[in-house]
Amino acid sequence: TTTIEVGMLGLGTVGSGVVERLTQAARKIEQTQGIRLHLAAVAVNHLNAPRAVKLPIGTRLTDSLTNVVCDQRIQLIIEVMGTVATAKSAIKAALNQGKSVVTANKDLIATAGAELTALARRQHCDLFYEASVAGGIPILRTLTDSYATDNIQSVDGIINGTANYILSAMTAGQTYGDALAAAQAAGYAEADPTNDVGGIDAAYKLMILSRFAFGQGLTFQQVAPVGITGLSATICQTVARHGWQIKLLAQATQHNQQLYCRVAPVAVAQTQPLSEIAGVQNAIAVQSDAIGASLYTGPGAGSTATANSVLNDVIVAAQHLVNGQSAVNTALPVNQGAVTNLAD
Ligand code: NDP
Ligand code: HSE
Repeated sequence: TTTIEVGMLGLGTVGSGVVERLTQAARKIEQTQGIRLHLAAVAVNHLNAPRAVKLPIGTRLTDSLTNVVCDQRIQLIIEVMGTVATAKSAIKAALNQGKSVVTANKDLIATAGAELTALARRQHCDLFYEASVAGGIPILRTLTDSYATDNIQSVDGIINGTANYILSAMTAGQTYGDALAAAQAAGYAEADPTNDVGGIDAAYKLMILSRFAFGQGLTFQQVAPVGITGLSATICQTVARHGWQIKLLAQATQHNQQLYCRVAPVAVAQTQPLSEIAGVQNAIAVQSDAIGASLYTGPGAGSTATANSVLNDVIVAAQHLVNGQSAVNTALPVNQGAVTNLAD
């Protein structure tokens, strides 16, 4: 058994889940992977805040990011604190020291993923971010591995758990405010839920998905998301009575070298599989030449499911550290076709 020293930035919804999953799965990881993941240190913002999760004996809790990122024994950094500028500089510092990084930060990866991936490649480190899109669904690895030789025509997704939770709850008669409060209490929403309800979080995830599905990045301006803040229980219920469900869809379609995209609330017929995706569930419908139509569903947010995605990335990165392999990131955009927003 080889021990890999791990440092983590953040101990909120996702970070707590990572600690719990690490503890629960330690034996299995050791038996099946021959690896012991030792959580050496965790950085938080409020050192003395009460914590629902108990850290393993010997894990150092600190309010200094540098203390974790620059700890010479630590080989792998998990970033689950959010923010863009602070997380970016912490991740760059880690990669520059040759540490591999696993993050759940879609805001950062959507906007600076290409730059950070290029840095990781130069440093022969891994940079993985499965949890950044659709929480517990292993969609990025699926697109990378299972569609390696296939040609994807379209991805249509429900990729924000909070928005889907709110829309489902409003269809069941709850008010917008109560539904949002419940999504926040469950740990699904971002610290500031503006991005969830404004379609911004879904746009970031579509920007990432597009790189994996089409080898082409989208800018935020090209996606120009529309959110769900203008909707109410009355509207959702009226639409449902006519046989439709309102869903916040994130869509990208490639046709004749042109990429069409949009993030917006759409009335989906109740005969369509995406109409049945309720609550915090996410789904991504993929249409491709070889496989045809596939639908990937699962929890799109929440502590345990998201932490599971993080931990799977950690195991792959840890295996690479043990084997001395270099990075296998495949999501650098290579195509530059024209983009049209479907909402225009
Ligand atoms: P939380 O707000 O629950 O937790 C954030 C954690 O980061 C807290 O422990 C906080 O410390 C710590 N933190 C924040 N800023 C700093 C800083 N400058 N230095 C040190 N520690 C800091 O967030 P989540 O766990 O919900 O989300 C974390 C990341 O995962 C985000 O990028 C989010 O988008 C992403 N994500 C979240 C999912 C979810 O279901 N919640 C699903 C998929 C991705 P303190 O506790 O002291 O305040
Ligand atoms: N706030 C996000 C959501 C978390 O509700 O989908 C998962 O990325």
